[in-house]
Amino acid sequence: MDIQYDYLIRAASAARKQAYAPYSRFAVGAAIQCKSGTVFVGANIENISYGLTICAERIAIASAVAAGEREFVAIAVIADTSEPIVPCGACRQFLAEFAPELIIISATVRGGQKIDNLCHLLPDPKRGILENVHTH
Ligand code: THU
Repeated sequence: MDIQYDYLIRAASAARKQAYAPYSRFAVGAAIQCKSGTVFVGANIENISYGLTICAERIAIASAVAAGEREFVAIAVIADTSEPIVPCGACRQFLAEFAPELIIISATVRGGQKIDNLCHLLPDPKRGILENVHTH
């Protein structure tokens, strides 16, 4: 793993401590690096309805966009798993809206790491969507 992403994993790890996950007891932290240099973090927020749960990755990017950021370089995600986790399908689509070539750094609390790219995990994210819509 390239040392340059250590700070992002650290930020994700600190954010993970704020996870609200009383139902799954699976805490996830995320940290997204903006092109501007600013880092925004997120942790998963669960809900008693279960389906309204929001993943750490979407919290992180939503927080950044709400602060005026639109361009992103990389996102780190960390959880206590034996293999590093990658963002779920919903998060891939949500991230691809702004950064289809986002670098994904996945880490475990025990030091496991892997790196991937969103365009590999979700190729062609906008294909077929809204292409044939007629607006008035
Ligand atoms: N979760 C995330 O926050 N990010 C992921 O990449 C995987 C899943 C959360 C959602 C839910 O609160 C818990 O982990 C179990 O799926």
